[in-house]
Amino acid sequence: MRIPYIAGNWKMHKTASEAAAFARELRGQLDGAPHTVMLAPPFTALAAVSDVLKDSSILLGAQNMAAEESGAHTGEVSVLMLKELGVSVVILGHSERRHSYGETDTLINAKVKLALAHGLSAILCIGETLDEREADRVTEVVERQLEKGLAGVSQDALSRVVIAYEPVWAIGTGKTATPDDADSVHRVIRNKLADLYSKSAADAMVIQYGGSVKPDNVVGLMAKPNIDGALVGGASLKTELFVPIARFDRA
Ligand code: PGA
Repeated sequence: MRIPYIAGNWKMHKTASEAAAFARELRGQLDGAPHTVMLAPPFTALAAVSDVLKDSSILLGAQNMAAEESGAHTGEVSVLMLKELGVSVVILGHSERRHSYGETDTLINAKVKLALAHGLSAILCIGETLDEREADRVTEVVERQLEKGLAGVSQDALSRVVIAYEPVWAIGTGKTATPDDADSVHRVIRNKLADLYSKSAADAMVIQYGGSVKPDNVVGLMAKPNIDGALVGGASLKTELFVPIARFDRA
């Protein structure tokens, strides 16, 4: 059975002290929650948030990492640095990384493999732009991002991968895919995973939806058979929005 998984991507918000105070508030309300809960603060706040989350059920995530372990990579952050801080999950291939920072499927794949080789879990983000959706290319785009992003990942390691389907046009825009639309793309993703691996591996995979998830739409989305969780941006920055999302009840 797939356990629902709600992740908060804080993006470039909150200083270390603000993040620690916010994480303390969330810990008070989400430690021991029935679903898997993960918080991904900015790099500079990871150490402080790690201290706050110690011995809780809440996972610590990073929003990105370098494709190399170490070396002359000014401004990058290594998997080894993340691990030492208690990070157990890393978000990779977020559309903002793909579209604002030019990350390719090949680069993202290198990051996915490195994270998994070091024992981390990876949330691999995929999703189409508005132009691609209007050109009827959703299936082609998500299948390509999936196949290239997971190239060389074994079925064993796949158990530490979560897929986040995030239609780019729904991120931070207030536009959400309808639960039926999202579920039909999630079905495409699960079928492709079955092709690439096996039906049992595909059935075990958590596929999150991301893009303007809010307390008032989470229940409808999570009621769909192929939607197993959410990657939440804007609404992860406020206790009164994130707590009800993370503690949603099945419809
Ligand atoms: P949003 O962001 O919830 O603000 O739309 C989602 C994401 O980018 O992961």
